Amino acid sequence: MLNLGVLASGRGSNFQAIIDEIEAGRLDAEIKILIVDNPNAYAIERAKRHSIEYLYINPKEFPSKDDFFIKIADELKSRDVELVILAGFMRIVRKFLIDAFPNRIMNIHPALLPSFPGLHGQKQAVDYGIRISGCTVHFVDEGMDTGPVIIQAAVPVSPDDTEDSLSARILKLEHKIFPEAIRLYAEGRLSVEGRVVKIKGYELKDEFIVNPSLR
Ligand code: GRF
Repeated sequence: MLNLGVLASGRGSNFQAIIDEIEAGRLDAEIKILIVDNPNAYAIERAKRHSIEYLYINPKEFPSKDDFFIKIADELKSRDVELVILAGFMRIVRKFLIDAFPNRIMNIHPALLPSFPGLHGQKQAVDYGIRISGCTVHFVDEGMDTGPVIIQAAVPVSPDDTEDSLSARILKLEHKIFPEAIRLYAEGRLSVEGRVVKIKGYELKDEFIVNPSLR
């Protein structure tokens, strides 16, 4: 059983997808704590509903960003968290937390990295006019969405798409690949060589490429 710590700032639909996989018995993990940096994050309601411990940590109460992340690392370590999940956590993680959990922090980004890192990956894709986008689960390093890629999934982009319509299409796949990446980790199948993530027994999956007729 893998001990997870989840960091979120808002809606928490990815957090919910992970909870659902655990409750369905498809992911051998336990969420030890949800940490939010926003007292109004809807993710808190989800934690309450599923009896998951949660903690609001106010970044403004700390003298520096490093101190804020040191506090987060302490809370995670004190609960024996093994893997940290950034589920819509809207801050760049500082070195201290990364060093405390080397290659043990996962993030989901709503674009096919290295394209469109940073905020509003879906809007960047629509504005650029590309025809395929998607989402990426990666290990977190000190850069902005630059860490080793674990899983990606692709969706078509129509010339008529808006940020909202594309976001909705991508989100469905986020909810599949994030739990899948955690499952691979829980099964001990991931290793990082340089910037390449090796996966034991990797299978190419059609379900991670959405056919336009299926969307
Ligand atoms: C998702 O689009 C994720 O890719 C990005 O932030 C959003 C979080 O959504 N990092 P939710 O809070 O999980 O619903």
